[in-house]
Amino acid sequence: MNTDSFWNFYWETRLQYLQGQGKGEVILQASRFIRDAITPARILEAGCGEAQIIGSLVDAHGSPSGEQASVGIDRDLAALAIARKKYPSIRFLAGDFTVTDLLQSLGKFDLLLLVNALHHVFSDAYDPTLGEIDVPKGKANLLTSFTKLSQAVKTGGYVILFDGLEANIPPDKPVQIQFQTPDALEKFQTFAREYNPFHIQYQLNTDDSISLSMRDFTRYITKIIFLGKPLWDRERQESYQYFNESEMREMLTQNGFDVQEFQLLSVDYDHWLQEVRIFTPGIDFPPEHVLITAQKTG
Ligand SMILES: C[S@@+](CC[C@H](N)C(=O)[O-])C[C@H]1O[C@@H](n2cnc3c(N)ncnc32)[C@H](O)[C@@H]1O
Repeated sequence: MNTDSFWNFYWETRLQYLQGQGKGEVILQASRFIRDAITPARILEAGCGEAQIIGSLVDAHGSPSGEQASVGIDRDLAALAIARKKYPSIRFLAGDFTVTDLLQSLGKFDLLLLVNALHHVFSDAYDPTLGEIDVPKGKANLLTSFTKLSQAVKTGGYVILFDGLEANIPPDKPVQIQFQTPDALEKFQTFAREYNPFHIQYQLNTDDSISLSMRDFTRYITKIIFLGKPLWDRERQESYQYFNESEMREMLTQNGFDVQEFQLLSVDYDHWLQEVRIFTPGIDFPPEHVLITAQKTG
């Protein structure tokens, strides 16, 4: 068995529990990068949660130790307690990854992982007076945070960013869809009532089709899987989308990164085909995730 076949088999077995979740793709991508590196990679994961990602990578490929150990940061103490127990060789820090002092004390890393993390910085700019996220403020906070985080990456090091993305279609473009079952329509209506970061605007037409914007269609596609599940209470507070492709690329280039891969992922595409019919010509289901690998060259 050659090395690639070995790792394909290893991850196929190990990642079974993440099947249908895009973040399995992050682990595969990071594993390929780490295998190409000469020495064990020093990894920083900002917003690591229970460390499923950084933990499985360090388990598989090792990490420098002592002062140079890989680091996971999170503000959720319960998640960190689980992470610490499971992955004792990783250094876990409780705190806010947008805070410069915390990051400056850590030195430099070969790989920065931002997996479903930056959309929290955007969502934290929710303004109760507006009843929505303050978009200019959220975007500005996000850019400042990314600049701070990117300073922790060595020249020649990498960032792997996985998150939501605005579709590459004017966000206000009207889209007409129809749900294939009454249950799917009812779920959409519950989603529209309960999704908190923005007001979802739609019109129910006499033929039972729905007219809405591309932006709101994207919000629906990326959030509805959580409705009725324990995570819904948390998920309905967060917007996955904050940037479109050109804003994402600009953030990376402005911070000295050279984008090497920009992949759009839709893990539930077949499911959507069964659930929703799109009437508007030229419109397909929006991407659920973006997975970007970029190298720091500047
Ligand atoms: C959706 S979870 C992703 C966890 C992990 N990256 C994964 O994909 O399994 C996002 C995590 O980021 C953490 N987080 C969000 N904003 C943060 C901040 N400003 N500082 C530290 N942690 C933060 C949350 O507590 C949460 O554990």
